[in-house]
Amino acid sequence: MKITVIGLGYVGLVAAACLAELEHEVFCVDSDLSKLEALRHGETPIFEKFLPELLKRHSGQRMRFELSLTDAVRASAAIFIAVGTPPASSGEADLSHVEFVSRQIAHALSKGTYEYKVIIGKSTVPVYTADWVRKAMELNGAPPGKFGVASNPEFLREGTAVTDFLYPDRIVVGSEDQRCIDLLKAIYEPLTSGCYPQQPHAIPAPDGAMVPARLIACDAKSAELIKHASNAFLAMKISYINAVANICEAVGADVDRVREGIGADARIGSRFLHPGIGYGGSCFPKDVTAFRAVAQECGYSFGLLDEVVVINDEQRQRFVRKIRRVLWTLKGKHLAALGLAFKGGTDDIRESPAMSILRMLEAEGCTLSVYDPSAASKAQQSGLLSADVRFADNPYEAARGANAVLILTDWEEFTSLDLPRLRAELRYPIIVDGRNLFSPSEMMKQGFIYVSVGRPQVGIQPAASLPRM
Ligand code: UGA
Repeated sequence: MKITVIGLGYVGLVAAACLAELEHEVFCVDSDLSKLEALRHGETPIFEKFLPELLKRHSGQRMRFELSLTDAVRASAAIFIAVGTPPASSGEADLSHVEFVSRQIAHALSKGTYEYKVIIGKSTVPVYTADWVRKAMELNGAPPGKFGVASNPEFLREGTAVTDFLYPDRIVVGSEDQRCIDLLKAIYEPLTSGCYPQQPHAIPAPDGAMVPARLIACDAKSAELIKHASNAFLAMKISYINAVANICEAVGADVDRVREGIGADARIGSRFLHPGIGYGGSCFPKDVTAFRAVAQECGYSFGLLDEVVVINDEQRQRFVRKIRRVLWTLKGKHLAALGLAFKGGTDDIRESPAMSILRMLEAEGCTLSVYDPSAASKAQQSGLLSADVRFADNPYEAARGANAVLILTDWEEFTSLDLPRLRAELRYPIIVDGRNLFSPSEMMKQGFIYVSVGRPQVGIQPAASLPRM
């Protein structure tokens, strides 16, 4: 099938590459011409496993980077809108890019003859967006009856985006128009029939993949709500376990055991119950607020979501208080931070809890050495940290002479740190772990003062035996 994808951000680019992998012919459109140029020259603008392989396999073949939205739209049966929906100052999603693109598609369809088109919302949007897209298109000259509108939200995660797309837990397609549902079913047929994984060059299935993929067809409003409600629920799960971890700290219990116990109930499940320094990234913070705004708009006060946000914000401040408690005072302390990205496996620092904690520490008068396997240059360019922050080439260099090491991102490589070497570099053997990457008993054996989240602190010596801080 001929498909246009408009907007080559995280969702759009991954979707385009994966749709090409499913043997569709994909025209990729973006208003950022330098991005198109870079893609045409074989560059991969985001750090994502398997994406370089897919781009290499399909660029210039089944995946073309188009300058003309009009030509691409006119040639396609399906047009995916994957442009950004950033938060407006009110917390609502800013849909101006979606509206702009809807007008452009309408202009492309206002003249000439062409086959029936399906316009598909792929970006995360509030309920009613599909209705608005239809209205905007009709007002701008697209003839009713010549196109249909659908919602097909994307559930991919950064770091595992390609396998999330090709081996999804579910595919949600929403429209009032059966032709739209049928066309979307045809697009995803290689996944719902289970054919794709059997192909010789298929991207390998991750453990526990659902094959064949399950497709849920519904109306557009329900599909839009499924996406917002899923992200808000996951954010709530994280805030919930963070709140439980705080109680564990207060009473001296161990959140790992509590997690194991509650997660063993199949109705609750153990996934997404890792306490830490709160959720971040380009989706949860924005989507929880946007869903809250949707509820407000339709007359329902969704106070539960306010609390999710409050707990998340407090979790970062609480972490800074932990550092203060173990170091006594913060001003003038030199700290080594491991991790800048909002989670491991990505170079994305948007709404990263690590970045906001580092900013708080700088405001308290700390100096910082930081290390991240892939997000350092983005952090440096962001201007969010002061020019005094030292960017180290490895964790040991970051730790050199520091009063403590902070673990801020759950990078896999941090779990295999050479702990004696790290300890030798540090001024004080202190680790404050915001991601619970190590076992407290192991850290005690290694001679560290180890502070984590929701678990008893270990290695705290009587004040008299501590070095002067
Ligand atoms: C999230 C959702 O998981 C995807 O399903 C969704 O498609 C995507 O948003 C989106 O709307 O586009 P992502 O932002 O890539 O994906 O990141 P997650 O893996 O969900 O992690 C989000 C944040 O929660 C990270 O800061 C992570 O460290 C934190 N987290 C996650 C925890 O603190 N504890 C956990 O147990 C899980």
